[in-house]
Amino acid sequence: MCGIIGITQKNPDNLMEKLYQSLKRLEYRGYDSVGFAVLSQGNSIRISKNKGKVDEVARQTDFSLMKGTTGIGHSRWATHGAPTKENAHPHTDCQGNIAVIHNGIISNFLQLRKELSQKGHIFTSETDTEVVPHLLEDLLKQGKTMKEALFELATILGGAYALVVIYTNEQDTIYCMKKENPLILGITKDESYAASDIPAFLPYTREAVTLRDDELAILQPGKYVIFNVKTKEVVNRKPHRITWTPDAAQKGGFPHFMLKEIHESGQVLRTQLASEIPNIEHIVQAILEADNIITMAAGTAFYASLTTQYLFQQTFGKIVIPTIASEYETVLPIINDNSVVIAVSQSGETIDTIKAVKEAKQKGAKVIAIVNVVGSTITRIADHVVYIQAGPEIGVAATKTYLAQVFAIWRIYHQALIKTNKQTLAQQLQEAIQNVPDEIERIVRNDEAKARDIAKKIQHAQSAFYLGRGINLTTALEGALKLKEISYIHAEAYPAGESKHGPIALIHQNYPIVFIAPNDNTREKIIGNIMEMKARGAYTIGIIEENDQELKQILHQYFEINPKYSKQLQNIPYQIPLHLIAYYTATSKGHDPDYPRNLAKSVTVE
Ligand code: M6R
Repeated sequence: MCGIIGITQKNPDNLMEKLYQSLKRLEYRGYDSVGFAVLSQGNSIRISKNKGKVDEVARQTDFSLMKGTTGIGHSRWATHGAPTKENAHPHTDCQGNIAVIHNGIISNFLQLRKELSQKGHIFTSETDTEVVPHLLEDLLKQGKTMKEALFELATILGGAYALVVIYTNEQDTIYCMKKENPLILGITKDESYAASDIPAFLPYTREAVTLRDDELAILQPGKYVIFNVKTKEVVNRKPHRITWTPDAAQKGGFPHFMLKEIHESGQVLRTQLASEIPNIEHIVQAILEADNIITMAAGTAFYASLTTQYLFQQTFGKIVIPTIASEYETVLPIINDNSVVIAVSQSGETIDTIKAVKEAKQKGAKVIAIVNVVGSTITRIADHVVYIQAGPEIGVAATKTYLAQVFAIWRIYHQALIKTNKQTLAQQLQEAIQNVPDEIERIVRNDEAKARDIAKKIQHAQSAFYLGRGINLTTALEGALKLKEISYIHAEAYPAGESKHGPIALIHQNYPIVFIAPNDNTREKIIGNIMEMKARGAYTIGIIEENDQELKQILHQYFEINPKYSKQLQNIPYQIPLHLIAYYTATSKGHDPDYPRNLAKSVTVE
């Protein structure tokens, strides 16, 4: 979703360059238009904006005309109004004294726009955002200061917002206000930053302050003060140190972030493993004692969350209900104060998941969050947080964070096995957990070339199936989502047994089907499914156990996984070839896997 950067600093020489670089680092969020505004000498705001990519709009912008020490930059992901120059942010008031950038949706904008138009305000865009500068203009005319105007604005605006405002009367000041959409401040001795995500300012500072809902921050170079907009009182909050290094947000020699992140998968799990899960005793106890366990998540994180059902329902007989976060209302009636909600989210800012978790919490559920981004909204709602420690993930398509989420769930399960004295199972799993980072690295090393070849073969397909059984249905679902989101080939995953009940009608010569076929209790049935599909001309690709001679004979292509993972951690190593296939299919087709069309890294609108 929209990317936001605001900078106020002492140095006038590099402001535009930094705004531009910061927006480049936010490109992964997904966007269609770009804009900059700088407070210039002579009390004016200079704006440059247009539809297109950051580089295109920067090329159209004369940086030398936009000198200043305070400025804002925005990448817009269109919601209200098409991606056009007029709808691109920043938006201004009638006099051009106030410039505003926004992420989120102002739900009551139609009514506000009507009232403002009746008062004579002229609107130049179709956006919901534009009501903000006009409202501020009105409030300032009433004699309020900008701070007072923003306090009042918070009582008027409905919906969700991260707002950043600059004003000609205050040359070295940035105002930021937030409700439901993320805003993070970065601070150095001489500079202050406001951004929708940490990578925006990571090369300049690792001292960050996370703004919370209903807070207003006023930034000046090297200084910040935070207010609660409801009580109007100052909130004291010290910066925390970001552990991510600036290098982690660079491509590091890889052609795309996505490939780099696939290559990092093994190391990510190793890093997670290096520390114990805080409060694991309480987490396990809560899960084992709960009446029911509800998982809440979206997209890839939802597929990761399905792992919970296979582990805790099958081994411990717990009722686990995996729930797509935007459909949370269906499970509300069964949530009570003896329910555990497991929220899984890379960003911790997905609005569907936030809403679902808040509602569940109100009904008394205990919330365990499995999240990557430290201090994000979901971590503040949760009773317990399990950080997956995957570092920044820039590619829009989740890869290493999916594995890290699944790994965290397996680790919690491992602790539950220990607590319930299932020693043999716990020991087998312990060994697999220790070794899986190396296995992942082996698979990436060995299988990249094969994935590239398969990609060439399937790149012209219209559609593909991913079939798995048991816990490897999660592998199939995640594999299909990855292929469709970055290569634009229609891909669906089914429980393999279900494929005969309709989907098989689509099979024709060379129709690609990926089978997840470990040597476990699903193997014989999967072989049956492969034969059925092959008989109808399908091009069959299998992820199989090493040296499974029978499957090697049957399949057109296969990837081999160490037997250790046929019964433990299956949906971790079995996923790697599918991430590679998706990546190479997208690049074979000439698509940029890091910035797939229409998608945003963090979905902050409902
Ligand atoms: O930040 P989250 O994990 O909550 O995001 C949820 C989904 O939007 C996300 O997993 C999405 O499906 C992935 N980018 C797909 O690769």
